[in-house]
Amino acid sequence: MKKVILSSLVLTVILTACGSGKGTGSKVKTEKQDVLTKSEALAVSTDVIQTEGQVLMQNNCARCHKLPDPSAKTAEQWHKTLNKMIPRTKMTDAEKLTLRVYVVSNSKD
Ligand code: HEC
Repeated sequence: MKKVILSSLVLTVILTACGSGKGTGSKVKTEKQDVLTKSEALAVSTDVIQTEGQVLMQNNCARCHKLPDPSAKTAEQWHKTLNKMIPRTKMTDAEKLTLRVYVVSNSKD
């Protein structure tokens, strides 16, 4: 429970940091996106995101096939795959974002 609260906090920070600054209406797309680069993902990643992302992947992505290996694809390739796979899962928006940051931060260069 503590971990969940902590990761929500971290994600709030990320969501705020990714917002365009002014106003309140900036939306982060968690299902479809292709703008997060590996270095950006590494910059926002934390130990909590790494741990949580790994667990989310085990619980959500290994249901239909074997556990995917984040280092098997580049960030760009992952976004294409994640845009197809994330909608097949039932994660919250925060979890989708955690998973994407986890996968992209561990992607192939
Ligand atoms: C509801 C079942 C289901 C879930 C959940 C699912 N996948 Fe898939 N996945 C598939 C199927 C079926 C394929 C075969 C190709 C296709 O249908 O697009 C596939 C193919 C893949 C591939 C190989 C094809 C490619 O585009 O590289 C990867 C990698 C992958 N999935 C990763 C993931 C990840 C990461 C998650 C979690 C976010 C996930 N999958 C969740 C069903 C699923």
